This record gives sequence, C-alpha cells and structure tokens, in this order.
Amino acid sequence: MAKENLSVWTSISFWRRSAAWVTGFATILLIWLTFDTMGQISMGTDADLQKGITKRVPAPTVINYHIDYKMSEKRGHEVPVIGKKEPFFGKEWSPKEAAALLHLGKLGSQAKNCMNCHTLLGNGAYYAPDLTKAWLDPMWGATMQGMTGKSTKEEAMAEFLMHPEKYPTHARMMPNLGITAEEAKGLVAFLKHMSSIDTNGFPRGFSKTVDQFKAGGTNAH
Ligand code: HEC
Repeated sequence: MAKENLSVWTSISFWRRSAAWVTGFATILLIWLTFDTMGQISMGTDADLQKGITKRVPAPTVINYHIDYKMSEKRGHEVPVIGKKEPFFGKEWSPKEAAALLHLGKLGSQAKNCMNCHTLLGNGAYYAPDLTKAWLDPMWGATMQGMTGKSTKEEAMAEFLMHPEKYPTHARMMPNLGITAEEAKGLVAFLKHMSSIDTNGFPRGFSKTVDQFKAGGTNAH
C-alpha cells in the first residue's frame, strides 16, 4: 500500500510535533537566559563592596576604591580588580552621594554627547579614544598630573575635561564643551565607575596602549 511507503519527512504530524517542541524549548531557553543576564548585569550594592564580593557592575560607591586592571590567565583577558579604599576628590562618598554624583555624570555625558566622538561600553563613535577604560589609562598619573599641576588622578582628569584645548595629547583635539567643575566631577565619577565594570576584556587592545605608554611611546589611540 502506498501509505506505508511514505517517509517520516513527509508526515505532517511529525512536523507539527517538532515545531511545538522547538518552540517550547526556545521559549524556556530565552526565559532562562533573560533571568541569567539580569543577574549578571544588575548593579551590586555597597555591602557587596565592603564584603569584597565582585559584581560585574559594582555599586556607585566603587569610586571610593582603587581600581586596577589585571590579566586573568583563566579568562584570557584583563579584569578590573577592586583594591583598597582611596579618597575620591578628597573624601569618601556615602552611597547616596556616590549615586547622585554618578547620576550627574551620566546626565552630563548625555547632555554633552560624549558618544558623538567616543565609545562607551561598545556604543558610540571612533573619532576619539574609547572611554570605557579611560580611568585606568596610566596617562592620568604623573604625565597629566604634571601637565595640569594637580596632585590626584581625578583632579587631573576633571581639569582636562574642563579645558581640553590646554592639554592636547593626540593628533586630534577635544573641543571645550563648557563643562563646569561640578559636571566634571560627575563625569570623572562616571568614568571611574565604568572602568570598574567587567566587560569581558573589551575594548580589546587597551593594554597594548598601556604597554606602549610604559615603553615611553606616545599614548596614541
Ligand atoms: C567633538 C568630539 C568630542 C566630544 C563630543 C567629546 N570628546 Fe573627549 N576627546 C575628543 C578627542 C579628539 C580626544 C583626544 C584629545 C587629546 O587627547 O588631546 C578626547 C579625549 C578625551 C579624554 C582623554 C582620553 C584618553 O584616555 O586619552 C577623555 C577622558 C575624554 N575625552 C572625555 C570626554 C567626555 C567625558 C566627553 C563628554 C562630556 C567628551 N570627551 C566629549 C573628542 C571629543
């Protein structure tokens, strides 16, 4: 009989059942992935920091800590390492103050459209250096502190943001965007916090820049 010779590939009920199983499996997988991602990207708390629990996105009070960037052999790229406490603009910021400062910085970065020229966490433009890990750039050490006459990294960075035309370091110059002292503080907090986010080693090549710098070359991007 002809019916018995039909292969399973031509059976409508087989395809119907397969479609139902695949849809069901994909739905469960997507729900699981959504919850997993939410857990990975939700911001940590000040208590996490005090207990030394490392979150991918640490609490705003991470600005009260020294942030380092170290090669992880296990993961094959650099990861941010949150170290000892250090003053930020001369003080320790409470969770409320730190959150407010970070908020000011975030609004400032949107109002002045830093992304129009820079890249932040993978979004933005390539006209100017990637800012995701800018805080960790050794240039803010002796070099920029010397040029700006400031004694801390954060003050040197704030001074640069307010008067970039006075400190040209690359072939291209950042224009003066009329950033106030308060906005600059917020922006520096925003950049310091961003550098503490575990971005799986992105942007790639950041450490190459750092090595070039250490070797005495110019910090060209
Ligand atoms: C019109 C384009 C433009 C805009 C908008 C802009 N920048 Fe820049 N920025 C540049 C250029 C070009 C440089 C490189 C200049 C130099 O180092 O002399 C730079 C350099 C920097 C640096 C030094 C980076 C490093 O590691 O060498 C920081 C930090 C920075 N900008 C922050 C910001 C922030 C924060 C904003 C938004 C408030 C912003 N920029 C908006 C063009 C821009």
